[in-house]
Amino acid sequence: MSRKVYVLLGVPGAGKGTQAKRLAGEFNLAHVSTGEILRSEVREGTELGKKVKEIMEAGELVPDDLVIEIIRCCLQNFPDKDGFVLDGFPRNVRQARYLETVSDAMGVIAINIDVEEEEVIRRLSGRRFCPSCGKIYHIHFSPSREAGRCDDCGARLVQRKDDREEVVSERLRVYREKTFPVLHFYSSKGNYFEVDGNRSVDEVFEGLSEIVARFEDDCL
Ligand code: AP5
Repeated sequence: MSRKVYVLLGVPGAGKGTQAKRLAGEFNLAHVSTGEILRSEVREGTELGKKVKEIMEAGELVPDDLVIEIIRCCLQNFPDKDGFVLDGFPRNVRQARYLETVSDAMGVIAINIDVEEEEVIRRLSGRRFCPSCGKIYHIHFSPSREAGRCDDCGARLVQRKDDREEVVSERLRVYREKTFPVLHFYSSKGNYFEVDGNRSVDEVFEGLSEIVARFEDDCL
């Protein structure tokens, strides 16, 4: 059975992390979030974390070679999983080309979660996350049961430094300049889908699941 790589694309705050976690659980996929991996390196104060901290806090992209190395390692792991869902990679056309070279045998399916800009600003300003287990919340759209505490592990929820208003506008600018061309890279290859991300988490999940199920059935 060949293992597929599902790439979730979308502006910052489109819901990639939220949906990737659910898809991974539903379809036995390994969830690889370059953003989450980099944030945990920053928290742990590793050499890599020290190199990328300021770049991430400013909303810029980390150098390609560093994230490509992360992806290279991840794609060699998880032998018990049926495939991968990538969230945050590729971020530019160079990264997308790299992914083609390492996942030839697997096949890449790109899905863009399409969300309007005013909506992502609402989502990012209210986002909180658990620094201990990574669970994502929103103070209005998906609040924790006890305010400020993770439902699963009880840790205190925090706001990401790059969710400050001035950094969000820089991240959106970087997205338009560097990541938007990746949509065309995949649509010109024919392995590209779009879902309307302006709907509820459950409705977006349903749209994504329909696409993934089609390919997973083919793999059986
Ligand atoms: P990364 O962590 O990848 O950030 P991002 O792409 O900006 O995306 P986000 O994590 O902000 O949003 P999301 O789409 O996952 O939305 P979420 O599900 O959380 O990258 C961070 C940084 O790392 C980058 O700026 C860069 O520096 C570096 N980096 C990472 N990868 C890199 C790479 N490949 N190359 C170079 N640098 C890289 O949802 C957002 C909020 O909305 C949440 O509160 C959620 O609860 C809520 N929500 C989600 N869906 C819905 C819905 N349908 N309705 C209502 N609320 C919703």
